[in-house]
Amino acid sequence: MGAEQQATAVRSDESVRPASAGSVQSVHSVRADAPGTATAVAHPNIALIKYWGKRDERLILPRTDSLSMTLDIFPTTTRVRQAPGADRDEVTLGGKPAEGDARQRIVTFLDLVRERAGATHRAVVDTENTVPTGAGLASSASGFAALAVAAAAAYGLDLDATALSRLARRGSGSASRSLFGDFVVWHAGREDGTEEEADLSSYAEPVPTGPLDPALVVAVVNAGPKDVSSRAAMRRTVDTSPLYEPWARSSGDDLADMRRALGRGDLAAVGEIAERNALGMHATMLAARPAVRYLSPATLTVLDAVLGLRRDGVAAYATMDAGPNVKVLCRNADADRVADVVRAAAQGGAIHVARPGPAAQLLDEDG
Ligand code: PMV
Repeated sequence: MGAEQQATAVRSDESVRPASAGSVQSVHSVRADAPGTATAVAHPNIALIKYWGKRDERLILPRTDSLSMTLDIFPTTTRVRQAPGADRDEVTLGGKPAEGDARQRIVTFLDLVRERAGATHRAVVDTENTVPTGAGLASSASGFAALAVAAAAAYGLDLDATALSRLARRGSGSASRSLFGDFVVWHAGREDGTEEEADLSSYAEPVPTGPLDPALVVAVVNAGPKDVSSRAAMRRTVDTSPLYEPWARSSGDDLADMRRALGRGDLAAVGEIAERNALGMHATMLAARPAVRYLSPATLTVLDAVLGLRRDGVAAYATMDAGPNVKVLCRNADADRVADVVRAAAQGGAIHVARPGPAAQLLDEDG
């Protein structure tokens, strides 16, 4: 499909779907810094119903719907400037030139934006992550969400939040959810139509919730790099794990239960569902051939501490992603107590406490 048709497809998508509930209005209410230049900020998110498994590796279409909470900590700020005359994209991460796979993923993403915009100029991209190295919070979600918003604005693509979430998805699946604040669902999209219909129908949007005042306590039990990337682990699990299909089916039920629990503001139910969904995801990996095991003895120690909190009447529930670190969902009022217990169990690992965070935003010149 040519650039013209791509851009048309994005616009027609917007005309049929109402703009998503207000949370990213700011994306459209401010202007880019200067022609061809834009700066955006986005926050990480943690899935309560996990995205695990793709059905299309190129378009990054997931096998299942997922649902997350955007955090109010560790934003990524990304500036994109068109660079007429440059013969390659210049990409820096935290002031250092990006290399290898990290650079390639960003260049491939910029190529997609240029194709849609009918643009040819290379870009200068500066990204500042505030996530401490090895914090156990992947920066790819906030990173590609910020890049999608900044690059679309810098190249003059006028996309609504839904279309921006689809664009961010192409950088990293979980990035689609960081376009929005608070609780967010990412639809797997239609499987019965054309490739274009599948692409158009796989987007994120906010999830309405009842009164919830949650906190997420992040326990970093191992800050080192992981042996197997989430991309590779996902692929191996889908291809070889006999537990994958049953988990994918039950994850659909978990999502329906989760929406109801969020709607009535039932934090204990939200936590229970999130915990069983995450443990199920890890079970699929343990059954992969060869097994992918991210959970370490320290992870299990923290999980025991979470069980101990529950025995003492504190609503605390754990979730883990593609790594050994544990995120504990609890009531904001209990966050200090949960953090103390988790800190003791995490044996010196760093503890971060997050609350629901904001949508991605395009910044004006003053930030
Ligand atoms: O978006 P990726 O490719 O980094 O995959 C993220 C997968 C999990 O973090 C394990 C689950 C999720 O839904 O975020």
